[in-house]
Amino acid sequence: MNQAKPIILKIGGSAITDKTGELAANTQIINRIAEEIKRADLDNLIVVHGGGSFGHPTAAKYGIKDGYKDDPTQKLGFAETHHVMTVLNGLVMDSLIWHEIPAVSVAPSSCMVTENGKVKFFDETVFQAMAKMIFTPVLYGDAVLDEKLGFTVLSGDQIVAYLALKYNAEKIVVGVDTDGLFDSDPKTNPNAKPYKHLTLAELKLIQPKLGKAEGTDVTGGMAGKIAELIPAIEQGIPVTITGATKALSIYRALTDQSVLGTVIEKT
Ligand code: IPE
Repeated sequence: MNQAKPIILKIGGSAITDKTGELAANTQIINRIAEEIKRADLDNLIVVHGGGSFGHPTAAKYGIKDGYKDDPTQKLGFAETHHVMTVLNGLVMDSLIWHEIPAVSVAPSSCMVTENGKVKFFDETVFQAMAKMIFTPVLYGDAVLDEKLGFTVLSGDQIVAYLALKYNAEKIVVGVDTDGLFDSDPKTNPNAKPYKHLTLAELKLIQPKLGKAEGTDVTGGMAGKIAELIPAIEQGIPVTITGATKALSIYRALTDQSVLGTVIEKT
């Protein structure tokens, strides 16, 4: 990332893990995405990945999202949720670095604090120094400390929107396990129709219909993701949602080529 407007890529946990399993990484897909990031050759990229079958089941088991309820086992749960996210992050980092991308991991739990689930503090000193040196910062959905709740789960999508607004991103690309948004669940309905383009107003109309995630999801599935991204779209930052499990979709979306998926713009 340099002084130019950043491009922010969210890699959904649904794409890089098997969300119906537990601690089940799709390493082949992680490697292919890394290859496509390398090929896109961007020096203003920020990568954020989700939790999938690493963060979500652990966070759900200990009720981390709803905060600390004076139950000491939850403290271990907080530690474990953060830890499993670092394990998934390690796999992503292995792959990015193996593909010769100067990627450096930035743990949200060490530089962000939320208030009632929304980012309140971000110590950006290290992050900005990295950007200046043109590293590719890699963040992830994480268990974080919260001023009101004690702790909570901060989704990768909220991190994406927060950074996009703060650094006035050029665009956001979200890679998931479907080719964008559909009028019903494409995994169960073969006649589901894709939305190629949505304005913010159109998006808000279809938002209640957006499907729930497969497996455990403490941050609200697709509807939750969209809700987090709306502030960035309102600011005029376009969002492309595409299939990270399909070859070249991430590469094409990052390099402004037409792609199977949904483009969401303010108007
Ligand atoms: C969730 O992050 C992180 C934890 C559960 C700790 P996200 O909400 O961004 O993850 P995905 O992309 O839906 O899996």
